[in-house]
Amino acid sequence: MHETLHYDVLILGSGAAGLSLALKLRSDISIAVISKCALHEGNTYYAQGGISAVLDPDDSVTSHIQDTLRVGGALCNPEVVRLVVEQGPREIHWLLRQGVHFTRDRQGQDPGGYHLTREGGHSHRRVIHTADATGKEISGTLSRCVRARDNIRLYEDHNAVDLIVTRKIGLGDNRCVGAYVLNQRSGRVATLVARCVVLATGGASKVYLYTSNPDVTTGDGIAMAWRAGCRVANMEFMQFHPTCLYHPEAKSFLISEALRGEGARLRLPDGERFMPRFDERAELAPRDIVARAIDHEMKRLGSECLYLDISHRPAELIEHHFPTIRRRCLEFGIDITREPIPVVPAAHYTCGGILVDRQARTDVPGLYAVGEAAYTGLHGANRMASNSLLECLVYSDLAARDITRLMTPPADHPTIPPWDESRVTEPDEEVVVAHNWEELRRFMWDYVGIVRTNKRLRRAKRRVDLLRQEIIEYYSNFRVGNDLLELRNLVEVADLIVRSAQRRRESRGLHYNLDFPDQDPSQCTPTVLIPDNYHPRREP
Ligand code: FAD
Ligand code: SIN
Repeated sequence: MHETLHYDVLILGSGAAGLSLALKLRSDISIAVISKCALHEGNTYYAQGGISAVLDPDDSVTSHIQDTLRVGGALCNPEVVRLVVEQGPREIHWLLRQGVHFTRDRQGQDPGGYHLTREGGHSHRRVIHTADATGKEISGTLSRCVRARDNIRLYEDHNAVDLIVTRKIGLGDNRCVGAYVLNQRSGRVATLVARCVVLATGGASKVYLYTSNPDVTTGDGIAMAWRAGCRVANMEFMQFHPTCLYHPEAKSFLISEALRGEGARLRLPDGERFMPRFDERAELAPRDIVARAIDHEMKRLGSECLYLDISHRPAELIEHHFPTIRRRCLEFGIDITREPIPVVPAAHYTCGGILVDRQARTDVPGLYAVGEAAYTGLHGANRMASNSLLECLVYSDLAARDITRLMTPPADHPTIPPWDESRVTEPDEEVVVAHNWEELRRFMWDYVGIVRTNKRLRRAKRRVDLLRQEIIEYYSNFRVGNDLLELRNLVEVADLIVRSAQRRRESRGLHYNLDFPDQDPSQCTPTVLIPDNYHPRREP
């Protein structure tokens, strides 16, 4: 039996962006929060370093703004940067009110204050954190808060398949009124109808073979929004984190930049410290510079990894600030208080995404995007460390205000046709899906990774086109399952990344192309891709 459910607000995604938005909406608004796995599973849970905000009296909003603009390669929207940075302290206080515990400063001037760490690009200590497991603390606290709210219904193990837009289903104007959602337990697709829908589905780093991200980050929201007629921007700027643990059994484990903030040094296999050769800020240069330097040295030496060394710092400090990293490395026989950590770069963050305005509204009325799925203009060509959780919180607040305005006066829900499965059969060759997953992620790593060339991008485009055709065909003929849905979205996002990278004929921030190695001041604008079904918004 096909199920149709009605809510005021449908939030796709239960990370920092989705859950904070749900909590910031009034308690008389009915809300559904959908999450592909367990509620906590997503990038938020794994965040280590912390959240940047101006909390130290010696720091200033101007300094945070300038650092963000500098790291962003002159491609950030300065008004958005100001808006987000100014709201930082308020959002930290909001988290404290929800019950989030941050690490206290044991040695600082203010015994009641919080410890602030440093990360690449920041000229001050301004990253508030919960040891090295900030995301776990935030995710755990927000999850407890939403579970306690009667107006919020949580759907775990549910996978949004596509958005429902009135124009597409013959209901006249262009409005998002819900989503088709696959219940992974029953295998059935339900229709969730809502007065507005929010994409809080996170990034797309899983499009690369090596990533710091968990499995859910397959760019579903970006692909769904693109199919629904939304513009996307800056998809060429995929961020590679310089230091993920290199060990055959350690899948996706990050070694936080905060280690470098507390003095860790990057070394070659022979022990030489090499970052001062690449940038005067050495290990605390922005991520694009550090990741490229590591990539360069690994290729030059034919080395499988390089090393991050914090063993010269007191063991007690390491244990206090980095208990999770210490424990995890010990499981692989590495004692970070005594020896260097083998590290490699890996895909980490999607700087581009669904283009939104300053209320988090997309091009389709009724559809919002927040968090890593969205492109707000904050990060430009390179995100500064710990600015992401901050953006999640600030934009969920802006979205909540606009959505609240939409909720009055109350309106009826439209009648939506149910999901049509009449022309599909059970999948006959699951191997096609598994093989294409592997192929896509490998060639994206090889051809569209840290260093690109025109030829590599052309190769990638040919392969994306072929896979896309094959996957769309498979999708039209067979009943949907999680792997197929994710693959369909990944190939869509891969196409957006390659096309954006081909458009940018210069090197800037995270996009480095050997055929255009210099920055070109005339290309100081975001790369905006427009779908064929794009209709400019008419409502204010
Ligand atoms: P996520 O937290 O990724 O949540 C996405 C949600 O969407 C999940 O619930 C998922 O199940 C759901 N979803 C996705 N697709 C679907 C679908 N089709 N249907 C239903 N649900 C779906 N940033 C910082 O600012 N500071 C840090 O210290 C920091 N450390 C990091 C460390 C690691 C290891 C990683 C991976 C990232 C880190 N980041 C950090 C980045 C930051 O964590 C993320 O950008 C941020 O958490 C994104 O939050 P989000 O709510 O947008 O998405
Ligand atoms: C880290 O702790 O190194 C990750 C911080 C971030 O991605 O913002």
